Order: sequence, then structure tokens, then C-alpha cells
Amino acid sequence: MTLPHLIQESVEFIVNKISKRPTIGLILGSGLGAFAETLEERVILPYGELPHFPVSHVAGHAGNLVIGRLGPHTVAVMQGRVHFYEGHAMETVVFPARVLVSLGCARLVITNAAGGLAPGLAPGDLALITDHINMLGTNPLRGPNFEDLGPRFPDMSALYDPALREHARAAAARLGVNLKEGVYAAMLGPSYETPAEVRMMGILGASMVGMSTVPEAIAAHHMGARVLGISCVSNFAAGISPQPLSHREVQETADAISATFKALVKEIVVSLPA
Ligand code: HPA
Repeated sequence: MTLPHLIQESVEFIVNKISKRPTIGLILGSGLGAFAETLEERVILPYGELPHFPVSHVAGHAGNLVIGRLGPHTVAVMQGRVHFYEGHAMETVVFPARVLVSLGCARLVITNAAGGLAPGLAPGDLALITDHINMLGTNPLRGPNFEDLGPRFPDMSALYDPALREHARAAAARLGVNLKEGVYAAMLGPSYETPAEVRMMGILGASMVGMSTVPEAIAAHHMGARVLGISCVSNFAAGISPQPLSHREVQETADAISATFKALVKEIVVSLPA
């Protein structure tokens, strides 16, 4: 079966379980999983039950697709995601994002936890992703292109949709949230970066480093979806502070900021036009 067929199988399975198709998709990283509990009339679909969906084994990443109402919108929330470092093929990593877009999510909000390296970024900050640097050494569009999904050589000059970014800035201002901005560099992981690698990424123009988001953003944009990315700065990137990095610190900071992060994402989504 070709990729478009696999996507279609998954879409049909999901459509049969819901009454209204979602128009906004959310892929939520560390600390934001509980966001899905704020949806009304929600239908919870464990990844394990969805055709061709990969299952994550990382602590702190639940695996459900939750579809329900948020304000005036029907939204689809991915509670947890799989990462390239887990060993999945790129095609597998981005499969759920492609399903969301095929379901009808023409807008995709992608969040993550990231290490901050730009001056002015500190743990607990939220930052809009203005652009990215793909350091994964591969691309989710590698391989045969399916014209039904998108073009062979898609433009990436406005991947993180400028209008959605402006909308997010306005939402943050309404809430009094100091929303920072920066370029997100996707590193393979799962080891954190060395201080030299973080210095290199700073020279290259990155503000945040993380291990997700970029594959899904590329695949969704390839299909014509508009993408908004937000990082929760969970720690100083390696070498920026003398303290060693730990997954626990990343999770604790992400948890501490999750109420603000949830409120911001909710304000952004609820105030989007239909
Ligand atoms: N580096 C890479 N990924 C991350 C980090 C980091 O410092 N923090 C959270 N995810």
C-alpha cells in the first residue's frame, strides 16, 4: 500500500469515530499532554488502536489522539508524539501529522520543550518558533514524492506561518504572557548536545535546541497546512549554565510552566477564525 492509502485508512477509521472533522491540529510536547482534558465532547483514541500510528515509549508522553471542541472549533490533539531518536523511520515519525492534515486540520500548532541558548532565553520562557535549522541529517520528504500530498520541492521560506505568528503574539499580549521568539534547531538526540555543539548552533543562528517538531512541521507544510510552533524553554542548553542537563529538570520546568502554556495555546486556538 502506498503512503496516501495508509493515511486514508487512518483518516477513515478516525472519521467513523467522530461527529465533526477537526480543522485545527495540536501536537503537544512535554508537559502539555493534559491540555487535551480541556476539550469538550472529546473522543479519546489511543494511538495503539489507530491504523498505522506509531506508539511512543518516552516517559511523560501519553499516546492518545483526542478530538473535541475548543471554543468554536473542533480540534485534534496529539497527546504525545514519537521522536526520530526512538528509531522510527522519518515516514513513521510524521505519519500522525499527515493524518491530522488529511483529516481537515489546515492549521497545526506544534509545541515542544527545548534548551535555550540565545541571550534573553531562560528556563520557563515560552518562545515562538520563527524558523528552524534541520540538523537531523535527513528529511521527512526523502523518498518518492506523492503529488497528492504536495510538491517534490516545497518552499520553506514561510514555514512558520507569519499570520499565525502575529495572531499568537496578539493572544500572548492579551494574556500578559511575555512570548519570546527564536530559531529552533532540531538535533537528533537522544543525548543532549555538548557545549561545543551548542556554541556551534548559536553561531549558525539558533536560539533553541530540541529533538522534535521539525519533521512534523516540514511534512504538514508540504501538504499545505499552516504551522505555528511554540517552544517551552525547559533548561539552559548545555554549556550555557554550569549545571548538567537532566530529563527530569526538563520535565519539571515544562510542568511548572504548563498552566501558562495551556492558557496561551487555548487563547490562540479559541480566537482563531473559523
Ligand atoms: N537539548 C535538546 N533537546 C531538548 C533540550 C535540550 O537542551 N531540552 C529539552 N529538549
